[in-house]
Amino acid sequence: MATWTRKHLLDLESLSAEEICYILDTAQSFKEVSTRSVKKVPALRGRVVVNLFMEDSTRTRTSFTLAAQRLSADVLEFTASGSSVSKGETLRDTARNIEAMGVDIVIIRHGAAGTPLYLTRCINSCVVNAGDGSHEHPTQGLSDIFTIRETKKNLKGLKVAIVGDIAHSRVARSNLWGLKKLGAEVIMVGPTTLVPKAFAQLGARICHNLDEVLPEVDVINMLRIQKERITSNVFPSVQEYTRLFGLTSQRLAKAKPDVLVMHPGPINRGVELTSEVADGLNSAILRQVSNGLAIRMAVLYLCSQAAAGATVPALV
Ligand code: CP
Repeated sequence: MATWTRKHLLDLESLSAEEICYILDTAQSFKEVSTRSVKKVPALRGRVVVNLFMEDSTRTRTSFTLAAQRLSADVLEFTASGSSVSKGETLRDTARNIEAMGVDIVIIRHGAAGTPLYLTRCINSCVVNAGDGSHEHPTQGLSDIFTIRETKKNLKGLKVAIVGDIAHSRVARSNLWGLKKLGAEVIMVGPTTLVPKAFAQLGARICHNLDEVLPEVDVINMLRIQKERITSNVFPSVQEYTRLFGLTSQRLAKAKPDVLVMHPGPINRGVELTSEVADGLNSAILRQVSNGLAIRMAVLYLCSQAAAGATVPALV
């Protein structure tokens, strides 16, 4: 692929394998910036980026803030609490008012699926999806895929188990689209109530027994139980869930010695996985966070250049 042409990043479903690799390769170049004594480049000097977060976040928001700062952009932070959203202002009006201050890129996190796409119809700025309901979380998916590629070198033929609350997970959907496009096999693992059969039609293998798949997989991505999105009793108790699907050292011993253990965070320690596993030698959890910064620098840079009509040659 010669150039990047999209001014928005809404999902991984609509990206081609070439576009995904283009972002990963650009992120690889930006990763080097974080090793310098002066961790800053002028790529977005004079541009304004707003973090419009209508749902809580630790990793994604701080990572986008730091990414924008490392590219020399000015950054505005917006959270629903303490804003005029509480007085009834609509999202459209909020976004249009912020844009009127001269914003170039809007990074949006929202509890409703489709909000980033809706925003592209309300404002002219670039829109980057930082997680929309249970739909997608493209920069988390890219961070995960980058981390797998960095460790395993080639995605083609790899077996990746995504374990847990698949039904409510935007991370699972972004991982599935991206990993499938790059040639990996994706196995969705969890109780029947949390792994919809529809995922088989999207190209995933479905399994309800973690112990059965552990010996064959190269990567295990453990997902958080999303209590805030679960509306009915999907398993008898947390203890029961952990007994069947929690990753413990005993379970990990059944996997390949070099299996990569991942989790997008935030972790419920002792539920999805034990502290011993989360902090153990196979864990790439903090590396996912470090790589997320390079991915977000790449996404902000590429979208902003595309919006300016500039040809964006690969940095590599
Ligand atoms: N992985 C992730 O989206 O974490 P935050 O909710 O803390 O941003």
